[in-house]
Amino acid sequence: VTGRTTGTAQGEVGAAGRDARARRVGIVGFGTVGQAVARILTGRAGRPAPELRLAAVCNRRIARKRVSWVPEDVAWTERIEDVLASDADVVVELIGGLDPAGDWVRRALLAGKSVVTANKQLIAARGPELAELAARNGVHFRFEAAVCGGVPVLSALREGLSGDDLLSIRGVLNGTCNYILTRMDAAGLSFDAALAEAQARGFAEADPSADVDGLDAGAKLAILAAIGLGCRVRPSDVACRSIRSVEPIDFTYARRLGCVIRQVARVTRETGGSTVLEAGVQPALVPLASPLAAVQGSQNVVLATGAHGGETAFGGHGAGGDPTAVAVVSDLLAVARQEGPARPWLPPPGPPARVLTDFVAPRYVRFVVRDRPGIVADLAGRFSRQHLNIDAVLQEPGHSKAELPFVMTLEACSTGALDQALGEIAALDFHVRPTVSYPIVD
Ligand SMILES: NC(=O)c1ccc[n+]([C@@H]2O[C@H](COP(=O)([O-])OP(=O)(O)OC[C@H]3O[C@@H](n4cnc5c(N)ncnc54)[C@H](OP(=O)(O)O)[C@@H]3O)[C@@H](O)[C@H]2O)c1
Repeated sequence: VTGRTTGTAQGEVGAAGRDARARRVGIVGFGTVGQAVARILTGRAGRPAPELRLAAVCNRRIARKRVSWVPEDVAWTERIEDVLASDADVVVELIGGLDPAGDWVRRALLAGKSVVTANKQLIAARGPELAELAARNGVHFRFEAAVCGGVPVLSALREGLSGDDLLSIRGVLNGTCNYILTRMDAAGLSFDAALAEAQARGFAEADPSADVDGLDAGAKLAILAAIGLGCRVRPSDVACRSIRSVEPIDFTYARRLGCVIRQVARVTRETGGSTVLEAGVQPALVPLASPLAAVQGSQNVVLATGAHGGETAFGGHGAGGDPTAVAVVSDLLAVARQEGPARPWLPPPGPPARVLTDFVAPRYVRFVVRDRPGIVADLAGRFSRQHLNIDAVLQEPGHSKAELPFVMTLEACSTGALDQALGEIAALDFHVRPTVSYPIVD
């Protein structure tokens, strides 16, 4: 431990010259978001909030984390026990992941401290249980930054749209995927080249799996379902399909169909019911006129559809240290001002909703084949056996007959019937690459 620890300096931290009535904040995890939160709290990035005072910073191997712009009376520690034993009123968990973050949040709540976190994984997996614990201990538990970073969609769903009866939520929830897909579209890049560019520019992590394979958006969707639809969805029940299968040629065909390609997350509550849902994250074709198509680069958008108010859109910077820190500090201010219920927003722990992965939508199906007569007739036969209607066949000129990409669009059909047909089609002898299919959604 370097500097004064909160464990030994209980009651003293932050005493010098700052508002003694301010809520004392302990930041746990001094990385991208943690440092951005500290910059706001200390007034380094504009006007500080007088209701809040940074009291402690906790991180492993803390010595290398110290910065000169943090006031001298802030305690630096690498032991969570120091923060728990201190007089910090609020613990901000920004280390990420399930472990040890879950245990530390639980212990902070048990110690009578309010908790603010940006950890979507933790909220999606253990949110209801931690919310209950917060309620039992009479403290706040807030996590606005966990979904869409700086876009205040959780409080909008919980407060602004609470008068509606929300039926579905869909959105572009992952900035990394949106950056990759919009760059592939605009610059004709391959997936690998667009991913490398995203990593070089800090929009993608060294291991991008959670983003590109849909798990990150799936965890966010589970939280949106809980807050907006009042349904508990296990993140593992959200059907996630990767964007790795998208190729530059798909953007050409998508444009011919008046669409772009986005990673779309969608959850729908059965009309008149409360628990049966369709929930999925996958690449999809989206008509150019849809708000889902308008979102560019690393931005996010969420569309909520209610029985009374129709569709409402929320958009903005879904990630990045500063936008995410704004959401964290807004949560801290809500705690300081005693706004919102101490009993947080999640449905109580209980059996999760039954989640269906099948849904009906028109489909885009792309084949890459070694050309020979009769291929379209073979495919039409397999589709018709499953009662699937072909809407159009598209073929761009200029491709080799040894590796010919072409597209069929299908009228609205269920995922189950399509998968059955594609299973039979996969056994045919003309494929050069696996067939891909995306729904067309708006
Ligand atoms: N960055 C964003 O745009 C964004 C947006 C929305 C939500 N979030 C969420 O915000 C949280 C923080 O993200 P971030 O981008 O700030 O991550 P980050 O830059 O990796 O920062 C995490 C910090 O926590 C420290 N840490 C990790 N595990 C620890 C442990 N076991 N004990 C002590 N310290 C530990 C790390 O120390 P080391 O330096 O030693 O690794 C690092 O300083 C995550 O839950 C993330 O999902 C981030």
